[in-house]
Amino acid sequence: MDEGQNYDVISSYTNRPERRENILGRREKPITKRISNLTNAYGRYNFITVTIEQTIQKIIFRKYINPLNLSVMKRLLTLLTFLGVVVFATSQEVAIENPVIQENLAIQLPAPSFDSKTSVEKALLTRRSERTFLQDAIKLEDLSQILWAAQGVSLRIDTIPFWWTGEKWLGGLRTAPSAGALFPIELYIAVGNVENLDPGLYKYNALNHTIAKVSDGDKREDVRKSALGQAAIKNGPACIVIAANFSRTEYKYKTRASQYVYIESGAVCQNIFLQCNTLGIGTVMIGAIREESMKVALGMPDSETPIGVMPLGYLIPKEE
Ligand SMILES: Cc1cc2nc3c(=O)[nH]c(=O)nc-3n(C[C@H](O)[C@H](O)[C@H](O)COP(=O)(O)O)c2cc1C
Repeated sequence: MDEGQNYDVISSYTNRPERRENILGRREKPITKRISNLTNAYGRYNFITVTIEQTIQKIIFRKYINPLNLSVMKRLLTLLTFLGVVVFATSQEVAIENPVIQENLAIQLPAPSFDSKTSVEKALLTRRSERTFLQDAIKLEDLSQILWAAQGVSLRIDTIPFWWTGEKWLGGLRTAPSAGALFPIELYIAVGNVENLDPGLYKYNALNHTIAKVSDGDKREDVRKSALGQAAIKNGPACIVIAANFSRTEYKYKTRASQYVYIESGAVCQNIFLQCNTLGIGTVMIGAIREESMKVALGMPDSETPIGVMPLGYLIPKEE
């Protein structure tokens, strides 16, 4: 199976749920099938359960609801309506998920490969932080591969999200774990020299495996300035800015959210390191950044906060 075919398997989940497989070829039972199996198994008890349910309802109604006077009922109704409005309003806030800017101008990235000649062990053994790089343009397929490794969708799930508890799959599970599958991480790419891409700031959309331009022009110098002037950022032909929308995780995990988001960004960082290693690309995690300055320089929305920068560039061959 070539790389293109592999990717087709992933993108076909939406249309053919009965054939859902994860990328390793394991078959997933469609959720509808699982539910119908359950219904069949318990179908014969339906009559009994419905009768019991109805009896309980009757008792509750006669004993508690009927004796209440009308004004109490009205107040109860008002309270319930109020609660409904609150739940609806909160859900709307969470539903504002806009991981992509200018989606209509999005660039489809080459399909990622799901195999390589480098073992995980070898990549772990030889991974090192690199701060100087060759100036060769980064291949678009390599950038695509790195973005997929960082945050790409590895298992599509098309079930409707259980919105009021904050369970949001955003279309699938990804290469890096995420608390509650809320996926707060956003990736920006400051492109200086990448094949077939104009210099500019781009944002990754994991669901479609696309990037969309956020602004024109090489932003690496702005990123460097916001990272205490560290030269490594300008040394690489492109760099990834790992950012996060903390509120996505706060919605469910409240005060623990920030811990979770930083843990997740660490997983994303290591995914980028290991994938770079298989491609002969060097990188380093630059955590010394001025958040506000970088946010302004890159025109990030208020909802997002930059966490770190990872410059990318082909490795300078080491002398023996
Ligand atoms: C959270 C974090 C922040 C870091 N910040 C910087 C940084 O601002 N500048 C830099 O040159 N290296 C930075 N590093 C890279 C470390 O210096 C590097 O990982 C360490 O020296 C170990 O080297 P190794 O990664 O090659 O094993 C950071 C690493 C981490 C994990």
